[in-house]
Amino acid sequence: MRIGVLTGGGDAPGLNAAIRGVTRRALEGGDLVVGIKNGWAGLMGPGDTTLLTPRAVDSILQLGGTILGTSRTNPLKDPLHLQEVLDNVRALDLDALAPIGGDDTLSVAYELHRRGVKLVGIPKTVDNDLPETEYCIGFDTAVSIVAEALDRLHTTASAHHRVLVVEVMGREAGWVALKGGIAGGAELILIPEVPVDPDYVCQTLQRHRSQGKDSSIVVVAEGVELPEAIGGVSPEEVDAFGHVRLDRRGVGDALARYIEGRTGYETRVTVLGHLQRGGTPTAYDRIMATRCGVAAVDLLRDGQFGYLAAVRGEAICPVPLEQVVGHVRTVDLALYEIARVFF
Ligand code: F6P
Repeated sequence: MRIGVLTGGGDAPGLNAAIRGVTRRALEGGDLVVGIKNGWAGLMGPGDTTLLTPRAVDSILQLGGTILGTSRTNPLKDPLHLQEVLDNVRALDLDALAPIGGDDTLSVAYELHRRGVKLVGIPKTVDNDLPETEYCIGFDTAVSIVAEALDRLHTTASAHHRVLVVEVMGREAGWVALKGGIAGGAELILIPEVPVDPDYVCQTLQRHRSQGKDSSIVVVAEGVELPEAIGGVSPEEVDAFGHVRLDRRGVGDALARYIEGRTGYETRVTVLGHLQRGGTPTAYDRIMATRCGVAAVDLLRDGQFGYLAAVRGEAICPVPLEQVVGHVRTVDLALYEIARVFF
């Protein structure tokens, strides 16, 4: 087989480990791997690809980012672009694809599968919100970065007796906020799944003070909808998949202003932003990405097309893409209840 591998959507630590997993498994069995550059964009126009040799994937296991580049290009927006992708798959003699991505990338993959392209998807998003898989590449690293940031922010918050609002990634699901907040000992965690109650936020912080705690860390997912009382605007700007640019909403800033105004506690905001997606993947991300990459090639070899190489407990299982795309896996509210013990 000639297998095309690509990375689409936001980058995430562990993508290179997955590319290496796909490549090494394929080459081991006598297949060839074509690296498609910059997500679906590499299959549009004249196409932009490179042959992946063992040398090309040497020493990339621990590298963040993606050696193939990525983009949020959506060929489904224009039938001509979709046709270009289909034509390039044929022209490049690609027998199968292994797209690595989140919901946006996989929704394109699903459409291609419906049109006869043989493929297996690999789950990736620091948001960790793909359904039917318990894990997405990049999530563990993002959580570790949040936890480390909170360790640092606790000391400065405490020194100045401040409230520190920390805005983290998470569009419709608060996985990064919840797990990062628990790991980093946040005093309050606000996630998209649980409506924000301004009274509860301020009363919780006031309770901390009355109990002698003179600093608090509030972790907020950037996708949280703030009630009118707090403010915060939704910008018009959207990406190629129609998602609002969350970094422009300023949820953390609006929340910090509200808290300071209502409680009088000095409050600062830290937006962790793309730090959560940058740098070296954790050992866990490297291992899971490697396993998903190898499993995707095995599924392709078995002729199991149109699936996601999903993580289920200790196993990697094929799940039909149809069950994955267009849905969101929100946080386990039982875990939120555990976090609340420490609010
Ligand atoms: O890919 C998911 C994500 O990391 C979101 O959590 C975040 O809002 C968005 O990507 C940021 O995208 P970009 O890198 O295009 O600004």
